[in-house]
Amino acid sequence: MTKKLGKIAIMTGGGDCPGLNAAIRAVVKTAHFEMGSRAIGLLDGFEGLMYGKFRDLGLNDVANILNSGGTILGSSNKASLYHPEDVSDVALENLKKWNIDALFCVGGDGTLSIAGKFLDKFPRIIGIPKTIDNDLKCTDLTIGFDTACSFVTEALDRLHYTAESHHRVMVVEVMGRYAGWLALNGGLAGGGDIILIPEMPFSFDKVVKAVEKRRHAGKRSSIVVVSEGARPKGEDYTVSSVVKDSPDPIRLGGIAKRVSDVIEESLGCESRVTVLGHLQRGGAPSFLDRMLATNLGAHAVHLAARGEFGRLVVYKNGVIRDDELKASVSGLKLVEEGSDLVKRARSVGVEFGV
Ligand code: F6P
Repeated sequence: MTKKLGKIAIMTGGGDCPGLNAAIRAVVKTAHFEMGSRAIGLLDGFEGLMYGKFRDLGLNDVANILNSGGTILGSSNKASLYHPEDVSDVALENLKKWNIDALFCVGGDGTLSIAGKFLDKFPRIIGIPKTIDNDLKCTDLTIGFDTACSFVTEALDRLHYTAESHHRVMVVEVMGRYAGWLALNGGLAGGGDIILIPEMPFSFDKVVKAVEKRRHAGKRSSIVVVSEGARPKGEDYTVSSVVKDSPDPIRLGGIAKRVSDVIEESLGCESRVTVLGHLQRGGAPSFLDRMLATNLGAHAVHLAARGEFGRLVVYKNGVIRDDELKASVSGLKLVEEGSDLVKRARSVGVEFGV
């Protein structure tokens, strides 16, 4: 039975992505229209909870944000309730002080794991999954992934022109951390010829041979899509930087340059590198991300109103539903070499350098 919901709080944690504002809007509007609840937004991820940084979120505050990128609340991929020290009691005191009835945490694996742990102290939490990496096992789609895939697709469309005009190899580095979803899906939709993903360690020799094979077949240009987490067989990931104070300090990057250099040296052809970087996280959310964020946000509030806390709202097999938050956030969803998606990519001629 639906109960009245008191004051709610919402936060966004981890890397920003398109669709976060759509999720905030959906939560605030559903809570307002259906439960008569007031909302506050915690600023800069868990920092808001730790340091008491928040703002009121009324209907006017969430007007015209459905189509905007980023997050009106700010985010942080450093702030944690448990690192470098345990400040979860401070967070709990703040929630009590502000009289919060339900807390909505929008985040990726880092934020949702922290939320799962904090359930032991504050059980009235609902998680909403987002990340352009789409690497959460619990859901088929995360908020932000579709828009990022569309961006990668468009970038490849554009790079095809220079590749063809100058008979070049264009090597494109794509985000995604330790999962190849963004590179594989964006690469496939954008007509990438060779796609290197973390789950399928590659051999430089095979990549060079794949380009050579195309040249022998009369193709004077090639598009090589390289996931930032792609690595040569037997080697570790290429790390671009280490972010001090972050619970997840490793930032990947740089592998595309290595791949490009090897192709150029081995084949004597011109090869250029484009690193798509944070452009993949920007821009207006796509239709799918707006729909996903809106549906997940509204469902999250419905759960809270029924007193069903400790849940994570997800999209599975075409349906919006929910699972246990704590149990759902562990384990990364990775591309499987034997999956239909990889098989079908091979069917249309994509090579993986393995
Ligand atoms: O998890 C999202 C993501 O964009 C990854 O794809 C990427 O590896 C990482 O975040 C980059 O993090 P930062 O914004 O801290 O450089």
